[in-house]
Amino acid sequence: MPKKTPVYVTQPLLPDLQDFLPYLETIWENKVLTNAGPFHQQLEQALCDYLGVKHICLFANGTLALMTALQALRISGEVITTPYSFVATAHSLLWNGIKPVFVDVDPVTLNLDPGKIEAAITPHTTAIMPVHCYGQPCDVASIEKIADNYNLKVIYDAAHAFGVRHQGTSVLNYGDLSVISFHATKIFNTFEGGAIICPDAKTKLRIDRLKNFGFVDEVTVVAAGINGKMSEINAAFGLLQLKGIDAAREQRRAIDAAYRVQLAGVPGIHCLTAGEGDAANHAYFPILVGPAYPLSRDQLFGALREQEIYARRYFYPLISDFPMYRDMPSAAPARLPIAQRASSQVICLPIYPGLADDIVAAIVAIIAAPFTTTIDS
Ligand SMILES: Cc1ncc(COP(=O)(O)O)c(C=O)c1O
Repeated sequence: MPKKTPVYVTQPLLPDLQDFLPYLETIWENKVLTNAGPFHQQLEQALCDYLGVKHICLFANGTLALMTALQALRISGEVITTPYSFVATAHSLLWNGIKPVFVDVDPVTLNLDPGKIEAAITPHTTAIMPVHCYGQPCDVASIEKIADNYNLKVIYDAAHAFGVRHQGTSVLNYGDLSVISFHATKIFNTFEGGAIICPDAKTKLRIDRLKNFGFVDEVTVVAAGINGKMSEINAAFGLLQLKGIDAAREQRRAIDAAYRVQLAGVPGIHCLTAGEGDAANHAYFPILVGPAYPLSRDQLFGALREQEIYARRYFYPLISDFPMYRDMPSAAPARLPIAQRASSQVICLPIYPGLADDIVAAIVAIIAAPFTTTIDS
């Protein structure tokens, strides 16, 4: 039998190589490789226009952007955040000497549960760092209300939320700052990359200085900044990627719809809500494997692997279960029952432009197999 081609949870969006060459030629002619060069400036403007945001500061990756966002707002003490995310969310706090305080998630969205935030606020709390997990908007109105009442900043980890809209505007416009990732696995990638979205020019200036060592001019350094700059190659690539993003998103939407229809009749498999209509970006396709399904989550995960389907258990383990967090009082599993349950049930199925209909059908067939396989007597 011919060996099957492995199917991964995602495949990076890549334009035709030929189309990238003119950008490279320009860079070679200009000899400007980084430090807010012309492609960097063009990409910032193009992303503001595409996403519908006022100011954007490009970064070398999303993690540096998160770390810098915390510095920009001078966050210290304790920050309330979700355990159900990629480790970079909480790591960005630790790298800034800030204590993460984990709060459980909402069972429907798997985002930070606003109803549980207030009980976690102490005199040391300075901010909330929620995550729009899988691109699904958080309950931004409730979070804003709590932040206003307690005078807290809100920094959204919006790494998954490229292009997501909420109540008629970009979801990136909520909170004091939002941080996005352009990592290879994201729906819009610049190989590596990220950005901070901010509401005003003054904050942008501060962030732009912080990501460039704190330099104001050749001889003036105003803060202990870092090197977070995006290079001209990444920025040029981003400009080219933007040309194909709508077509890519449309393909993701169609795959999402196909999974939903085909999985609808499989007992014990729950597809997470994908946001409201056009608002979603279909960055991930998470399913929850419930008690009514005959196999455990890990058995199904293994069955997919046997057929070379490399789905992923995002987010397992929970951040709060990693060694640098698990001894914190807020990391106790008993305090995070919804996140613990989701983490033990979730599988993100492959979704990316170009994923063929017959592969989607084959993945669904593996999931439905316990109900369709007849045992010979
Ligand atoms: C929720 C979340 N936050 C932060 C990051 C970090 O972004 P980057 O990989 O661009 O550093 C990622 C993913 O990579 C993520 O999924």
